[in-house]
Amino acid sequence: MEKQEQLYEGKAKKVFRTSDPEVYWVSYKDDATAFNGEKKGTIVGKGELNNRISAIFFSLLKERGVDNHFVKLLSATEQLVRRVEIIPLEVVIRNIAAGSLAKRLGLEEGTVLPQPVVEFYYKDDALGDPLINDSHIQVLGIADDSTVQTMERIGLRVNEILQAFLRERKVILVDFKLEFGRAADGSVLLADEISPDTCRFWDEETREKLDKDRFRRDLGDVEQAYQEMLRRIGGDFDV
Ligand code: TMP
Repeated sequence: MEKQEQLYEGKAKKVFRTSDPEVYWVSYKDDATAFNGEKKGTIVGKGELNNRISAIFFSLLKERGVDNHFVKLLSATEQLVRRVEIIPLEVVIRNIAAGSLAKRLGLEEGTVLPQPVVEFYYKDDALGDPLINDSHIQVLGIADDSTVQTMERIGLRVNEILQAFLRERKVILVDFKLEFGRAADGSVLLADEISPDTCRFWDEETREKLDKDRFRRDLGDVEQAYQEMLRRIGGDFDV
C-alpha cells in the first residue's frame, strides 16, 4: 500500500489517499487543542500513543462484533482505515457527570448517572460544535432518523464493551465521543479515533485523570497519563 496525496489535515490527524480508493492512510500528530482550538499545544509522543490506543480499542470492538473503519497499524504513528464519509455529528456517551454536562446541568463532577446519557453535537467549528437534538438533526438534514438511532445503538454497545474492558484494568470510563461515517455500501460505520483525546478515563482507586483533561486543565504529566492508559490496556509493546 502506498501513501498518496493528503486529503485532509485536522487538529490531531492527517488523512491521505492510498492506491486503494477504499482505504485511507491516517497519520496521528502530537498537536493538541482544546476549547475549539483556542488552547494549543504539543504533547510529546501523543501521536504514537493515540495511534496505538485507538488501534487496540477498535480491534477489541471488532472482535466483539462492532464493525468499524480500522484496518491495521502501519507504524508507530500511522494506521490504515476504510474510507468513509464522516457524518458531521459527535456522539457523546456519559456514565458519570463531568465537563460540559456537569456545568450545563449543575451536577457535581463525579456524580454517577443512573443511566448512560447520549448527546449529539453538530461538528461545525464556526458554531463551536453546539449540542443539538433529534429534530435539529432532521431540520438541518444531517442524518435521517434511522441513522441517528443506529449511531445511538452502536454508541451504547461500545459503552458496554469499553466499560467492561476498562473496569478489569481499574479504569473508570467517565464519558467519550464517537464519530461515524457512511461507507461505500451506504452502511453507518464507526470511525475516527478512541483515545485519551476523546474519552475521560479516571483511575478507579485514586480518581486520577488519565486523559486530555490534564491538558485542558493544566494538570501536568499529560504524556505520562496517556502512556499509563496504553500500559493499562496492554499496548506497551513494539509494533
Ligand atoms: P465535554 O464534557 O467537554 O462535552 O466532553 C465530553 C466527552 O467528549 C469527553 O470525553 C471529551 C470528548 N470530546 C471530544 O472528543 N472532542 C471535543 O471537541 C469535545 C468538546 C469533547
